[in-house]
Amino acid sequence: MDNLISLVNKIQRACTALGDHGEASALPTLWDSLPAIAVVGGQSSGKSSVLESVVGKDFLPRGSGIVTRRPLVLQLHKLDEGSREYAEFLHLPRKRFTDFAAVRKEIADETDRETGRSKQISSVPIHLSIYSPNVVNLTLIDLPGLTKVAVDGQPDSIVQDIENMVRSFIEKPNCLILAVSPANQDLATSDAVKISREVDPTGERTFGVLTKIDLMDKGTDASEILEGKAYRLKFPWVGVVNRSQADINKNVDMIAARRREREYFATTPEYKHLANRMGSEHLAKMLSKHLEVVIKSRIPGLQSLINKTIAELEAELSRLGKPIATDAGGKLYSIMEICRLFDQIYKEHLDGVRPGGEKV
Ligand code: GDP
Ligand code: NA
Ligand code: MG
Repeated sequence: MDNLISLVNKIQRACTALGDHGEASALPTLWDSLPAIAVVGGQSSGKSSVLESVVGKDFLPRGSGIVTRRPLVLQLHKLDEGSREYAEFLHLPRKRFTDFAAVRKEIADETDRETGRSKQISSVPIHLSIYSPNVVNLTLIDLPGLTKVAVDGQPDSIVQDIENMVRSFIEKPNCLILAVSPANQDLATSDAVKISREVDPTGERTFGVLTKIDLMDKGTDASEILEGKAYRLKFPWVGVVNRSQADINKNVDMIAARRREREYFATTPEYKHLANRMGSEHLAKMLSKHLEVVIKSRIPGLQSLINKTIAELEAELSRLGKPIATDAGGKLYSIMEICRLFDQIYKEHLDGVRPGGEKV
């Protein structure tokens, strides 16, 4: 099953290399058919913190205000125990990052390259792959936080622009939604709950994540929500305790933070009975498992889609001549060539053969 997910990761990466951002382009339907998990919520609800804990690494630009201004498509690839972890950007294919502070800086720089240093947003994603023994195979999409007002010379349209961008990702039926709400705010005012309910009314693909449980007012607790009594989702809510700003300032590391999170749920009387399904690690496992189920259920449809795409592209090719795309390595490939390759990998996979050739 690990192979299946990493295959999907490869296809998604190639779609971006081909200029398919899920918007109008040569292969929109191919992208549309692949599952991913998008993180949505209000600004500073803890989205980046949740993503980092799922990954088990500090690498995302964080802070108050609008930090995430482009979608970040984050692919996690599990390596064998003992392997050295590294990160790679699609736009810097030959560069392996082992310093995750440099990854954070590159995300910020690449955001600026596209949007300028203003607080403008762009819907062109940044593609980042992390290879590590400490992750599960997952594709995550970090999105700019939903806001209520424009700041610092942003156009008034920014509130709506962000909402539209977020919606364009999460309205796809194949997108699993990680709806992040802070426990220290009324759930009724949660941007995450609001927008996810809008695009997924039955909650088939929405996972509720409750952050900042440690910051709730004395005398209140989140057990009603976490037990699914306050706002019922199809999948059980997962509560998490991320690092506070003070922890970040003190450089509290991820391992220590996870240990403390585990202890928090195991020893807090209100959550003890829920402890085995709370926390970032549980969230990561739950997501990976669900993703596998989704991919598996989609294989036949995906297969026929790939075939159809090849046929369509062949027709297009004979009409137009030679459409050319640049792959991650800067090499030139025709779109058709890449589709053929997918098709072949897919068939091998369906036959139970390990997909050959690392390069797409
Ligand atoms: P984002 O804007 O949604 O990506 O939110 P961030 O992950 O950047 O978090 C915003 C702020 O809230 C940071 O200062 C975090 O340290 C803090 N924070 C996030 N989650 C928690 C949590 O569970 N507990 C505490 N105490 N602070 C949190
Ligand atoms: Na923020
Ligand atoms: Mg963020």
